[in-house]
Amino acid sequence: MIIYLNGEFVPETQARVSVFDRGFLFGDGVYEVIPVFGGRPLRLAEHLERLTRSLAEVRIDNPHDRSGWESLFTTLLEKNPGGDRSLYVQVTRGVARRDHAFPTGVRPTVFAMVNPIVPQNPAVLEQGVAAVVVDDHRWSRCDIKAITLLPNVLARQEALDAGATEAILIRQGLATEGAASNLFVVGDGVIVTPPKDRSLLPGITRDLVVELAQEAGLPLMESTIPEQSLRVAEEIWLTSSTREILPVTRLDGRPVGAGVPGPVWRRVHGLYQDYKARLRETA
Ligand code: PDD
Repeated sequence: MIIYLNGEFVPETQARVSVFDRGFLFGDGVYEVIPVFGGRPLRLAEHLERLTRSLAEVRIDNPHDRSGWESLFTTLLEKNPGGDRSLYVQVTRGVARRDHAFPTGVRPTVFAMVNPIVPQNPAVLEQGVAAVVVDDHRWSRCDIKAITLLPNVLARQEALDAGATEAILIRQGLATEGAASNLFVVGDGVIVTPPKDRSLLPGITRDLVVELAQEAGLPLMESTIPEQSLRVAEEIWLTSSTREILPVTRLDGRPVGAGVPGPVWRRVHGLYQDYKARLRETA
């Protein structure tokens, strides 16, 4: 794998970061994950806007303008040919002696890599996945895509330990999102997803799903989801750039709705696949 690190494209074995990097010492940085289908990044402008916003919110200078990022990604994709892939990009505050306060005169560390997107196992689309409900132990700025992901890591592991695929997080009685995904439920035939605020990441897949459902005339509401509504939902879905729209068919060991992926999921999943097919055609 060829890595981008601070202006250079190098084999992964040669990519080196200082132990004094603030990403390593403090988790002081932000990141993005951008899916690429048929060589075409999905919603690149939106991903770059979110990266720009994350950087501004944590007061790290944006090391590139939009065209700078685009050419970096194009070169990195060329150097790592393959099928469907995702771009991972991380910017940390840089390298300095350990002190919580911002260092002066330091350049951000910029790292990017390409990972394969593993196609969804057909069994998952037939049967759905299991999820568990856990307390949301994260900070109060979950809208920033920070690399500081310890609570998310612990929540995901709790799900895996329980034989489930993802954890759904509860904050003050409301379901916010998954450990690494956004949340949708269907109740009384209406698709509901929590409104974007500081308690969740403004997912690019989430916004695309909202757009596709609305264009198709499906009833959709942005509204908070009390834990109790999760327990009686007809359908639950989790969305992310790398896992698309996952149907959750078991919650804490009990079936969700009929216990199989529901008809509204099937429809929206189809719309999403069509969107990807159109993106591939533009390559
Ligand atoms: N995570 N919420 C959280 C906490 C996430 O970490 C992610 C994505 C999402 C979905 O966002 P998007 O649709 O823009 O991918 C929601 C990425 C994929 C990751 O950390 O690997």
